Amino acid sequence: MNAGKVAMVVSFVAVMAVSVLAAGKSSAAQGDVTTAVAGQKNVVHHGTWISFETSSAECSVCHAQLYAQWRFAAGSDLKTVGQGTNHAISSTEPVYKALFGAVDPTMQVYCRGCHESGNAWAVADKINDIPAPRTVNVEEGINCLVCHLDGKKIMGSRELQDPIFCASCHSEKSGLTDIYKEWLADYTGGKTCQQCHMEGGSHLFLGYNSPSYVKTAVAISEPVISGTVSAGSPFDIGFTLTNYGAGHSVPGDLLRLLRARVSIVDSSQQEIYSQETVYYKRHPAFGENQADTSVIKAGETKQVGVSGVVIASPGIYTVKIELLQDSNRMISTLSTTAFMGSTYRTIVVQ
Ligand code: HEC
Ligand code: HEC
Ligand code: HEC
Ligand code: HEC
Ligand code: HEC
Repeated sequence: MNAGKVAMVVSFVAVMAVSVLAAGKSSAAQGDVTTAVAGQKNVVHHGTWISFETSSAECSVCHAQLYAQWRFAAGSDLKTVGQGTNHAISSTEPVYKALFGAVDPTMQVYCRGCHESGNAWAVADKINDIPAPRTVNVEEGINCLVCHLDGKKIMGSRELQDPIFCASCHSEKSGLTDIYKEWLADYTGGKTCQQCHMEGGSHLFLGYNSPSYVKTAVAISEPVISGTVSAGSPFDIGFTLTNYGAGHSVPGDLLRLLRARVSIVDSSQQEIYSQETVYYKRHPAFGENQADTSVIKAGETKQVGVSGVVIASPGIYTVKIELLQDSNRMISTLSTTAFMGSTYRTIVVQ
């Protein structure tokens, strides 16, 4: 059999599978594939019938590479490689499950709107509102259909290039997530969400969970020591943090905690001093005042300093600046730490 024939057979089998599924679920007109399934219209796409009830695995027949990226995070350094991208595991990952189980049941429908979404295209005010939750293939999280089917038509690159689409779930009125609004207000670098997070059409959606990608967000200067450093007398350490690589604030999410850590080690690698400056988003849901939010906005440079540092004995020391980001500032047992970079300077104490 030649390749064209294989494709035809495969697509025929897929049509059959989808229509059997459709017939079984539709109470009206058994077996009539042109009838809407559970109130949602079917679309013919390259010979295959597609609806919101179609499983993403069916797309893999013809879009194998994109499916492997989305479903398994194949070929990436995401911490969830093998398990899937954040989009693919948004309804099944343990941290989500734990928090979801802990919130008030009346709140759960709200969580499901973004983590187990229905049609993202149906959201009229994407900046403030979120999609309605769905009830089929819930374990697929943010699946292919959520983004690519508006009910009547398969949406491709042309329709999906605008960052406003991402706002369906990455922006919401209370500020639970407001990455889109930050991109609009603060970012001047000229790139869209898609150009950074989907470079070359990738469906890996690299972000916080990629050890290589998270390092591209913030530049750390070398530590600057002011004054002559002599044993027993106080001196100051200064440095800057510049958000040059993210199109929005760092941290981007409410749960994250960014830590700029200054430490001094002696010649036997013993740490003799450490201090941290922390940055995070505040939210009333956590009893916090949003006005106290201290993030590094897109393009912003923060001056950071620690003063009155004293080293007791003469010798050679290393001053080290490290940038770390904890994933969950609320539940430390569920938190992991991302390394975002470091700089050093050697000092001689007289
Ligand atoms: C029978 C094979 C087949 C199946 C199954 C299939 N597609 Fe496609 N799809 C194609 C072909 C062929 C193209 C056109 C060439 C290309 O872009 O790869 C295409 C193009 C697309 C495009 C670009 C826009 C357009 O309409 O041209 C999108 C988006 C898309 N498919 C999404 C999906 C999704 C989501 C699924 C699963 C629900 C799916 N496809 C299932 C064959 C298929
Ligand atoms: C407006 C859409 C939206 C709503 C509503 C929402 N989330 Fe999320 N959630 C996100 C996005 C987007 C992320 C990824 C990080 C980011 O951009 O904020 C996320 C991340 C998370 C994470 C962190 C996963 C990790 O990688 O550490 C957890 C846990 C979580 N959400 C749980 C919940 C729970 C529980 C609810 C309901 C109380 C909820 N979310 C409601 C959009 C939403
Ligand atoms: C979170 C939303 C989202 C999810 C989930 C998603 N996509 Fe996409 N997809 C996009 C966006 C946005 C683009 C356009 C990217 C660009 O042009 O820069 C795109 C592009 C595509 C294209 C190329 C379209 C064209 O016109 O050439 C195909 C094919 C495609 N996606 C298939 C899939 C399949 C199959 C799945 C599931 C395995 C999937 N997508 C999951 C958002 C998504
Ligand atoms: C239907 C809702 C929805 C849409 C639309 C959507 N996302 Fe997401 N996205 C989420 C949720 C929910 C998460 C977090 C899942 C988790 O970790 O539990 C997420 C996670 C991410 C992450 C990974 C975050 C991390 O912590 O590393 C990136 C990057 C991302 N989205 C980018 C995009 C871009 C770019 C678009 C637009 C093309 C988009 N998303 C559209 C719901 C959505
Ligand atoms: C100039 C490139 C760039 C642009 C533009 C950009 N991002 Fe990001 N984004 C990054 C980098 C780098 C990170 C990793 C930094 C971090 O998470 O600390 C990131 C992180 C994220 C995260 C994870 C946040 C977290 O704490 O889990 C999400 C979600 C996200 N971006 C979504 C978006 C959306 C949606 C847009 C468009 C409104 C967008 N990004 C625009 C580069 C970009």
